Amino acid sequence: MSLAVIILAAGKGVRMNSELPKVLHPILKKPMLRYVLDAADGVGPERVVLVLGHGSKLIKNAVSDYPVETVIQQPQLGTGHAVLCCEDVLRDFSGDILILSGDVPSVSVTTLRKFTDSHVKCGADVSFVSAVLDDPGGYGRVIRDSEENVLRIVEERDANSNERKQSEVNAGIYCVRSSFLWDALSGLDTENNQGEYYLPGIVNLCVSRGRGLQAFTLGDIKEVSGVNTREQLTQAERTVRRAINRRHMENGVTIIDPETTYISDFASIGRDTTVYPNTYIYGETSIGEGCSLGPSVYIENSRIGNNVKIKFSSYLVQCEAEDGVVMGPFCHLRPEARIEKGAKIGNFVEIKKSRIGTGSKVPHLSYVGDADIGKGVNIGAGTITCNYDGLNKHVTVVEDGAFVGSDTMLVAPIKVGEGATTAAGSTITKDVSPGSLAIERAGQKEIAGWAERKRARERKS
Ligand code: UD1
Ligand code: CA
Repeated sequence: MSLAVIILAAGKGVRMNSELPKVLHPILKKPMLRYVLDAADGVGPERVVLVLGHGSKLIKNAVSDYPVETVIQQPQLGTGHAVLCCEDVLRDFSGDILILSGDVPSVSVTTLRKFTDSHVKCGADVSFVSAVLDDPGGYGRVIRDSEENVLRIVEERDANSNERKQSEVNAGIYCVRSSFLWDALSGLDTENNQGEYYLPGIVNLCVSRGRGLQAFTLGDIKEVSGVNTREQLTQAERTVRRAINRRHMENGVTIIDPETTYISDFASIGRDTTVYPNTYIYGETSIGEGCSLGPSVYIENSRIGNNVKIKFSSYLVQCEAEDGVVMGPFCHLRPEARIEKGAKIGNFVEIKKSRIGTGSKVPHLSYVGDADIGKGVNIGAGTITCNYDGLNKHVTVVEDGAFVGSDTMLVAPIKVGEGATTAAGSTITKDVSPGSLAIERAGQKEIAGWAERKRARERKS
């Protein structure tokens, strides 16, 4: 089928009470509108036209990587008017036009495909998605006659008390033959409570002109719930999140508590990985097989290999951990941390822009920044790379097999040679040659009998 998509996103979103345009409010750290764009992309349209108005610059920036055409609707005279604004750019397009709202983020590609297929199959001029709700408040109601034929859609503000009792609502998703669409839109009026051109009016015109109409009724309304308020944003987030978690579980991931597990829709997780409660996997993160994450772990835009264990309360952003790495509890991996095979990062350790070589250990209370740590290195408790002189960042190199004693200060730029040792408590300011011991601390003195003399003095006074 020949299909174009129009996505409506020009409205202000007054009910969100926000500076941010409604369609940019994030769900799992991804703007709502991007979910709609992805769903639209999934049905394989020839063209996608995005209608913008309020906050158009911000929105354009946020979706600049999508191949869409944009149309500006100014002023915003209603959803019908928004679609009409696309007439110029789509005048040559003769197929069917799928119309979506930027504020209905949970809609799945599967549903949209079924909907558009059914539209083509039944040869309707207009198809629209409806759903039956326990609480239809806020939605346009679908009014049917005694034979269940759709008569019209009436907005809640314009509905009488009887019409408001109808529980079938308009989901705001339409598929329309283009030849009918432009004609019908020019027939809309503003005789309604808001004085706007209402898009559902094309359904009413379809009925009154005796053209083919299809109401495509869904069992699961959650998928087509609109986001007009913060509360509905929370509900939409839950719907999206549950669908993502379900997909991972089907793929062989154990999620102990899906209600407290937050996974972005572009994260990938390998089989037999277990995700413990209160864990966040955001951005383009990939996680290998057989890993154990959490509880309470945050990972964003990172690459995690197979059989990696990330323990309680660890925070990882833009980093990489190879197979068999063990980290946490309470570690902080900042951008460009690269932890090689089988290395160990322990508690209260912060790593930034550093490589930790295969099998090396940074087990306790350390800061490692701008460092290149070789293989089989032991970094003693409390070691710090002093990488910043107040002006510039400097590099620390620790070669393979070195042993850095506890509480060593490595004042960068500095190099600890292969197999070298630094003595505990040393402040290392000069390079250490391979295989040697660097010790930098005052000699230990001993004052015999001091404690006894002190007590005697105290007794006297
Ligand atoms: C709309 C439908 C309602 C349906 C509901 C489903 C109308 C008149 N009503 O109501 O029947 O039950 O969606 O979620 O269409 N927009 C523009 N330009 C405008 C006005 C709106 O682009 O001039 C955009 C908004 O940014 C939004 C979408 O259209 O993305 C829907 O507008 P909104 O005001 O949220 O309509 P609802 O009141 O939810
Ligand atoms: Ca809406």
